[in-house]
Parts: sequence; structure tokens; C-alpha cells
Amino acid sequence: SKHFAVFGHPVAHSLSPKIHAAFGRQTGIPVDYRAIDAEPGQFTHALSDFIAMGGVGANVTLPLKQVAFTLCDDLTERARRAGAVNTLVRNGDTWHGDNTDGAGLVRDLTDRHALDLRSRRTLLLGAGGGARGVAPALLDAGIGDLYIVNRTAQRSDALADALGEPGRVHPRYLNDLLSLGEFDLIVNATSAARDGQMPQLPRSIVGPRCAAVDLNYGEAAIPFLAWARAAGCRDVVDGLGMLVEQAAESFARWHGVRPETDAVYEMLRSHHD
Ligand code: ATR
Repeated sequence: SKHFAVFGHPVAHSLSPKIHAAFGRQTGIPVDYRAIDAEPGQFTHALSDFIAMGGVGANVTLPLKQVAFTLCDDLTERARRAGAVNTLVRNGDTWHGDNTDGAGLVRDLTDRHALDLRSRRTLLLGAGGGARGVAPALLDAGIGDLYIVNRTAQRSDALADALGEPGRVHPRYLNDLLSLGEFDLIVNATSAARDGQMPQLPRSIVGPRCAAVDLNYGEAAIPFLAWARAAGCRDVVDGLGMLVEQAAESFARWHGVRPETDAVYEMLRSHHD
């Protein structure tokens, strides 16, 4: 039978197996989807084992999205632009790489949260796998200028270069935040809260109708979203909806059917708030 999995480190608490099982029940497609823990250095080996036992598709989560990108034989345009892969599709002897994170985020923000993203002056915090996944889709959704701020400056520079829109995309430093003015959309794509930390953010970056979005959900989304509420952001959104939407996109890639996401989102929301 066909096997699917999510690879990550740590991955034990991933909600993806539950989401894909629910999509399988809803669509009547039998789904065998498990979580597999792999450190970056073991990922290639773990993928070989997975293929040997019948693995034909996988999700990839932190910190493996950029490693996964390098292991793919071919890529969708959006994965290539992201430089990160969250969805693997086995194609004969090769891995085809896609990235559904950005489409998932945009769908959650525009459809579920009814946010109009067009022309929003946007601050992206972080330049790792998560940030890379969502940046192209945000640009395609019509946001205004995109400022990328990361603790390690060379990674924000590299992401800005990869996006290939120098007129609209500006890498900046954490120390510059006070001089960057107000934003209409602030996206936290850092993993800082997973280590119990948060970048220092001045209130001056919050515009009058600002939406704050954390790509994390659960405990890891608490510090940034608490800051956002206190700083007066009008809309405050965690990453649970994006998680469900990116999973639906991946499910569609593998099974040819796009599941309905609202019921699964509501189920997870009631269990994880
Ligand atoms: P992910 O897939 O979640 O993006 P990642 O690729 O490891 O994971 O990237 C983590 C991001 O969080 C990076 O942008 C990282 O900044 P660096 O590139 O400087 O490492 C950021 N990050 C992690 N801990 C942080 C902290 N304490 N303060 C600020 N940024 C942090």
C-alpha cells in the first residue's frame, strides 16, 4: 500500500497525521500517514528507508525544508522561488518537490479571516524555511513592499535575492526596526518562541489597521501574538489555519482531491485553544 509521512525534528507533536487522517475519512481515501523524526544529517537515510517501505509522498517540516529542497530532482516554480520544500511527491525514481505553505497561508488569511492583503506594507520576521515558504505567495497575493528582517543578516539578504523583486523586497536588520515605519501586515516566521525567546519588537512598527500573523500555533505562537495584541494590532492570527490549508494542498497533490478544511480546522481549534 502507499505510505505517507511527515518528517521533522522534533515531530512527535505534529498535527499533520491527525489532519490527513481526517481528510482521508472525509474523502473516503484510505490514508496511511505517520510522523517520522529525522535530524538534518539523517534525513537522506530516513527518506531511503521510507521509499523502501513504500513511501510515495511526504510533508517536511522544520528544520528540514531547506535540506529537502536540495534533495529534489525537480521542483514546482513556487518551491524553486522559496528555496524550501514542504511537500514531496514520489515520481518513478525521483522526488518532485513542492511548497504549499505560502498558498496555505494566503488562503487562510484571505478566505477564513477575510483579510485583503493587497498593497499591505509587510514585515516578515525570519528568513528560514518557514519564511522562504510564504514569501513568494505573499508577493503574488499583491502585498505592497516586503521588508525581511532576520537575526542573521546574510539569510535575509539571501532570501531577498532569491525572490528576485529588488524594487519591492528589502532586507533589513533587527536593529533597523525603529526606523522602518509602520506596517499593515507583520508575519512572524521565526522559531524563537520554541526556545522561549522573542525578538525585541518596537510598537512603532504597528500601523493603524495592522494584521499580525504567526506561522506557529499553540504554545509557540503565544509570545508574538500576545505582543501583537498589546501593541494594538487589529487582527491577530496564529498558524493553525495555515497548517490545515497547506495540508489540504498537499493532500490534493497526492490524491487528486482537495478536501474541505473548515470542519478539520474547527476540530483542531476546539482541541488546541
Ligand atoms: P523554520 O523552518 O521554522 O523557518 P529555520 O529554518 O530553522 O526554521 O529558521 C528559524 C528562523 O527563526 C530563522 O529566521 C532564525 O534566525 P537566524 O537565521 O538568525 O537563525 C529565527 N530565530 C530563531 N531563534 C531566534 C531568536 N531567538 N531571535 C530571533 N530570531 C530567531
